[in-house]
Amino acid sequence: MHYQESRATFTRQMHETAGMANSRRTFSDVRNKILSAHKNTGAQDKVGFYDIWAENYEQDVALLDYRAPLLAAECVSSFFTGDREKATVLDVACGTGLVSAHLKKMGFHHFVGVDGSMTMLELAKKTGLYQELKQCLLGHDEISVEAEIYDIVIIVGALSVGHVPFTVIRELCDVTKPGGYVCMTTRGNADNWQYKAELEKMIRALEEEQKWSRVTVVQVEEWERAVSEEGSGYIPGVIYLYQKSL
Ligand SMILES: C[S@@+](CC[C@H](N)C(=O)[O-])C[C@H]1O[C@@H](n2cnc3c(N)ncnc32)[C@H](O)[C@@H]1O
Repeated sequence: MHYQESRATFTRQMHETAGMANSRRTFSDVRNKILSAHKNTGAQDKVGFYDIWAENYEQDVALLDYRAPLLAAECVSSFFTGDREKATVLDVACGTGLVSAHLKKMGFHHFVGVDGSMTMLELAKKTGLYQELKQCLLGHDEISVEAEIYDIVIIVGALSVGHVPFTVIRELCDVTKPGGYVCMTTRGNADNWQYKAELEKMIRALEEEQKWSRVTVVQVEEWERAVSEEGSGYIPGVIYLYQKSL
C-alpha cells in the first residue's frame, strides 16, 4: 500500500470537504474538543458528544490528519477478491460516512450504516451512500441486522477506550457472511493501551474458536495527529483484517 501517496490525496480531499463547514477552526479547537470527550465516560455520554461534534466532525478530522477511513478501506480493497458490484458492506459506527465514501471510490456499492448518534446518522443519510441506516448503541443494544449476510463488516475509529466495547467484535463476526471479511481498527497510544491488549486477546480467542482467520494486521505509525500532552507528532494505529470461516 502506498500510504504516503494516499495520505496526500486523502488530506487534500478532506480539506476540500472541510472547506464547506466553519473554515476558521484550528488544530487547537480540535485538540480541546477531543480532550473534552475524555470526560464522557458512559456510552450514552459519548454518543451525545458526537451529536454535538457532528457538524464540525469532517473538517476537524481533516485538521487532525485522521487517516483511518482511507487506510482501512484500502486494506479491505486490496484483499477483497469477490464481486464488488454485488458485495454488501456493513459500516459499523459509520459516523458521517467517510469509510463508505472511500469504499465507493474503490468500486463497492451497497452500504448499510449503524451508529449510536442520530446527528451523525443524519449527515450520513445526506451523502446518499447508504441503502439503510440504523441507530444502535453498540455494547448495549444488539446490532439489529440479519446474521451472516454481509461480505464486509468494517468498524473504523470506534474500537477504543470509552467508545465501543471490544466484546462487540463477536457480534460483528456473527453478522458477516461465511468467507466474508471483518475489518477493525484501533489506536496504539498510551491511553488506549489496555483496551488494545484486550481487543487483541478477544481477536485471538475468536481465532482459537475457529470463527475467523487472520488475513493481515497493519501497524500504521502516523494514524492521526497527537492531541494529548504526552505526545507530539502522530499517534500510531492498527488495522486488523480477518476472514470469517466457511
Ligand atoms: C471517531 S467516529 C468514527 C466514524 C467513522 N467510522 C469514521 O471513521 O469517520 C466514532 C463513531 O462511533 C460512534 N460511537 C461511539 N460509541 C458508540 C456506541 N457505543 N454505539 C454506537 N456508536 C458509537 C460515534 O457516534 C461516532 O460516529
